[in-house]
Amino acid sequence: MKILYFEELPSTNDYLKSVPFEPFLGVVALSQTAGRGRRGKSWLSEREKGLYFSLLFPPLKENLTLAGLAFGYATYLALKELSPDFYLKWPNDVYINGKKVAGVLPEILKDRLIVGVGINLLYAEEELSSLSVPATSLKAQGIEFNYDLLVSNLYNQLVEHYHLLDRGFFKVDEFEKACPLVGSPVKVIEGEKVYNAFALGVDREGALIVETSEGIKRLFSAEVSVREV
Ligand code: BTN
Repeated sequence: MKILYFEELPSTNDYLKSVPFEPFLGVVALSQTAGRGRRGKSWLSEREKGLYFSLLFPPLKENLTLAGLAFGYATYLALKELSPDFYLKWPNDVYINGKKVAGVLPEILKDRLIVGVGINLLYAEEELSSLSVPATSLKAQGIEFNYDLLVSNLYNQLVEHYHLLDRGFFKVDEFEKACPLVGSPVKVIEGEKVYNAFALGVDREGALIVETSEGIKRLFSAEVSVREV
């Protein structure tokens, strides 16, 4: 396990874009000045209030939606060691008690796959109140953790899930079991369009299958945002 530690970086994902390729290299920053979330959003990255972590992998044959699901599931498993109450929200957010606690940003380049994970550790919920979704932190949920242990568990889970994906062994039904959105009514936000649907399940490519008034649709993570209703 090789993990580099920095006091501050613009973004741990961007750092791994700039270095010569080294498989399974991890990087942690205590704070980020340009932390990025999915869909062009920024990611709050105050010093030591969150875990800001990225890992470098060789590119995968799998599509990014399925890879994102597997790495979200890996993050969920690392957090499950601390509390049984975590669950997943498709495509790759970890939630607890209706609030987001962690997110995953997978990025594919020609010669590498970068998986960034942000976990809210010490933020008070008021500090997260301006975010686009209700959010919380481990501390706000009364969950105790050891920073170094969390980093190594997360590293190991991400590497294990990379190998599962690479061999075609990642099972989406594991993800479905941890994602209560499946089997529930959902609101789909697709650009300007918002419509109600029912989430039937996740297919082998990682798409969310929803039933709408216009029939069955397959949703890919880059295109939609899904809210529980
Ligand atoms: C999301 O929008 O849910 C994904 C958030 C990912 C944030 C992490 S923090 C470490 C890594 N570096 C970044 O700039 N983003 C990811």
